[in-house]
Amino acid sequence: MTGIRLDKGEAFVDGVRLTEIADRFGTPTHVYSRLSIESQVDAVRLAFQEMRHLLCYSVKANDNLSLIALLADEGAGFDVVSGNELECVLRAGGDASKVVFSGVGKQAEELDFALREGILSINVESIDELELLEERAGLAGVTAPVSLRVNPNIAVDTHPYIATGLKSSKFGIPIEAAPALVADASRSAHLQVIGLACHLGSQLTNMEPLDTACEQLLGIANSLQEKGIEIGMIDLGGGFGVRYENEPEFDVAAYARTIKRRLAGRDILLVTEPGRFLIASAGVLLTRVIRTKPGEPRHFAVVDAGMNDFIRPSLYQAYHAVGRDGPPAAGASPGPWDIVGPVCETADTLASQRELEITKGDLLFIESCGAYGSVMSSNYNARDRAAEVLVEDGTARLIRRRECLNDRLALETPYLRL
Ligand code: LLP
Repeated sequence: MTGIRLDKGEAFVDGVRLTEIADRFGTPTHVYSRLSIESQVDAVRLAFQEMRHLLCYSVKANDNLSLIALLADEGAGFDVVSGNELECVLRAGGDASKVVFSGVGKQAEELDFALREGILSINVESIDELELLEERAGLAGVTAPVSLRVNPNIAVDTHPYIATGLKSSKFGIPIEAAPALVADASRSAHLQVIGLACHLGSQLTNMEPLDTACEQLLGIANSLQEKGIEIGMIDLGGGFGVRYENEPEFDVAAYARTIKRRLAGRDILLVTEPGRFLIASAGVLLTRVIRTKPGEPRHFAVVDAGMNDFIRPSLYQAYHAVGRDGPPAAGASPGPWDIVGPVCETADTLASQRELEITKGDLLFIESCGAYGSVMSSNYNARDRAAEVLVEDGTARLIRRRECLNDRLALETPYLRL
C-alpha cells in the first residue's frame, strides 16, 4: 500500500498535502507514511499469525531512529548487520532479545557488544567468524546463541547486485559444509547452535526459491536431529519484493501458508527479515524542479534531489514512478522528460523518459523511496543530506533535520592547517 493519494491532481500522504510539507520543511525531503508501514507490518503479522514467527525488520533498509521506534512499538524484532545498527535499535527502544545479527565482516568488538546485550542470535557466515565468536564468548564467560547462515546456492530472478544466495556471492557458509560445522560447534562450551539461516536476495517476486531454501534448511535440521542436535529456529531472511513498476505483487499470505506446511508438527521458531516490504512503498522523495532544459534528443527536468539523495536508479537502473503535485501549469510540456539531479555525473538520472507535464517550480514526488533511500544517501558534490518527515495522525513531523555544511565540516575543521 502506498501512502500517496491523489485528489484532483493534488497529492496527499495520509491526509497531509505534499506542498504543505515542502513549504514547511523544504526540498528534497524524504516523507514516510506511518499508516503504510503499519499496514505492511499487519499484512506480515496476519499472514504468519498461526505460526511461531518473529518479524525482524531489516534495519539496513532505513535506520532512522523514529522509524525503528515505530516498528519496535509494533512489536517487531530487528535484523542488524553492524554494531552501530544494533546501537540504533537499542537507542530507539528495540528489544535486544528480538535481534538477529547478520553480516560477513563482524569484528570482535561488535560480537562483544552483541553478547553483552543478549541478542537472540548471531548469524555466523564463516568458519573464521565462528572461531572468533567462540573466543569472544569464552573471554566473556558466556554461551553465544548462534545460527549458521548457509549459502544454499539458489538462483533468484533479481538484479545481480542484490542476489546473495549463490555460491559466487560472499554470503554464508556453503550448504554442504553446514552439518559438520554445526556438529563441531555444538561441542563447544561457548557456542549454542540454535538455528539455521539464509537470505537469498532482494526484490524476490515469488516464493518458490524461499520455499526451496526452507526445504533445504529443514533437511539439514533433520540430519542434525539424528545426531541429537535440535534446531529451534529457521531464519529465511528477507527479500519480499514490492511493486515498483509492474512486478508481480509478492503474496506474503501464500508464502506463509507454504512455510507453515513445511514446518507443520515441528517446534521451530520462524524468523523473517523483510526490510523493503515494510517500508519501501511508505516513502516518497519530494523534490522541486529547478529548471527545464528541453532539447534534442532529450528533454531534461533538473530537480533539486540527486543521486546522492536517492541512488537506486543510478546504481541498479531501478524504476521509480514519479508524480507531480498539483495541476499542470499552463503551457507545461508533456515531455517525455529525463528527470535528473544537480550532481555532476551522467548517472545522476532519477527517472528516464517520463510523460509528465512539467514546468519550472513544480513539486514532484518519487515513489517507493522508503527503503534503501535516505539510508544510502551521501554527501557527494558536498551536498547536504535531505530532511526526513513522518506523517502520523494527519500531522507531519520532522524526524531528521536537513544537514548543513557545518555538520560535515565539524569533522574536518579542527584539523585544518591554515
Ligand atoms: N536480511 C539480510 C541478511 C539481508 O542481507 C537483507 C538485504 C535483508 C534481510 C533485507 O532484504 P529486503 O527484504 O529489504 O529485500 N540496496 C539494495 C538492497 C540491498 C539488500 C541487501 N540485503 C536495493 O536498494 O535494492
